[in-house]
Amino acid sequence: MPPISNPSIIFNELPKGEPTLETLKIDESAQIDLEEELKENEIILKLVCVSLDPYMRGRMREEHIKSYSPAFPLNKPIGGHGVAKVIKSKSSRYEEGVHIYGVLPYTTYIRRMAPTEQEDAQNAKFFGGPALKILKNEENLSWSTYIGAAGMPGKTAYMAWKEYSPVQGHIGQAKVAYISAGSGPVGSLAIQMAKKDGYKVIASAGSDKKIQFCKDIGADVVFNYKTDNPDEIFAKEAPEGIDVNWVNVGGKAFETELAHSASHGRVIVCGWISAYNGKSDGITNLFQIVAKRLHVNGFIVGDLEPKYGSEFYSTVPKALASGEVKFSEVKYDGLDKIPQAFIDLLAGKQGGGDGLGKVVIEIK
Ligand SMILES: NC(=O)c1ccc[n+]([C@@H]2O[C@H](COP(=O)([O-])OP(=O)(O)OC[C@H]3O[C@@H](n4cnc5c(N)ncnc54)[C@H](OP(=O)(O)O)[C@@H]3O)[C@@H](O)[C@H]2O)c1
Repeated sequence: MPPISNPSIIFNELPKGEPTLETLKIDESAQIDLEEELKENEIILKLVCVSLDPYMRGRMREEHIKSYSPAFPLNKPIGGHGVAKVIKSKSSRYEEGVHIYGVLPYTTYIRRMAPTEQEDAQNAKFFGGPALKILKNEENLSWSTYIGAAGMPGKTAYMAWKEYSPVQGHIGQAKVAYISAGSGPVGSLAIQMAKKDGYKVIASAGSDKKIQFCKDIGADVVFNYKTDNPDEIFAKEAPEGIDVNWVNVGGKAFETELAHSASHGRVIVCGWISAYNGKSDGITNLFQIVAKRLHVNGFIVGDLEPKYGSEFYSTVPKALASGEVKFSEVKYDGLDKIPQAFIDLLAGKQGGGDGLGKVVIEIK
């Protein structure tokens, strides 16, 4: 068989504000020879599905600007969480036919050495696990689940809820939790974690369909952050304050949330998506943190993986397979859909406006 095309998604242009169709581009110039003899320990992976996540906007910056994850180099393939199949192998660790989960370049075929212990250790520092985790998938979930509810976003909600939600003074008497961006992959699992722990859950989302989904998975009160008044809603629904505020969105809305926090409450700062395309709004009432003795935790999910990783994989995939935990996905078909899908994700227009949940790109 002659060499075949090996398309990638490259970081084409630094976005100014919202990403455009120029930010990411498909590059079909590279080829790969799948017949070529592999070296000892070499493998070839074929992408099965890849994830688009809001944090990737933060990687689309100038390379000299430091952050917790490295900037994407211009004109090179971007990467992120994905599932791939080992289609050729000279590694005893990764046999042909197995599926792996890891942080992968968004290139259809990936020829590489099987990860070394050093690479696994380095990966664990940023992403919490081995570079390429073999997925047994005993629950027979669709592979895409492993980049969503059973992958990084699911871990985020599960691990950080367990680590940071217990409210000092209120342990055993769960009260009110508030979760913004409630219909997304992180928010929807956070809602279900909070309900399981007995909270009254208030959530917010940006459309009727997303609001209905939050209610279907257990949220008690859901408002539309574009049209409703959160000040009135919190005053009515959480008169004694919000005990756990799970922050996905941040921005000016956070002022109102702080004003309605309960004393000794928890503020779990998971993300601040309102500012990913620009500057953050100034928050003028941060003294509430002192006045209310709030416990404010920022975190990156990989930090929690050593503590909760095996518990997560032994419980969450089963709960997803049985339907005990619910999730929603928006699937796009083909790497070439990524530039538009990423715009849709940040704008809350998943699937072109009709979808909700985890944005997944399948490579058939
Ligand atoms: N700390 C960590 O380790 C970690 C790991 C994963 C994710 N996160 C963070 O968790 C949050 C949720 O992630 P996710 O993957 O579940 O994404 P997501 O909820 O699917 O993110 C997209 C949604 O964000 C909402 N949004 C965007 N801009 C907004 C704005 N200006 N105001 C209000 N809502 C806005 C939209 O909600 P509507 O559709 O309802 O309008 C949109 O659908 C993000 O902040 C992400 O960065 C953190």
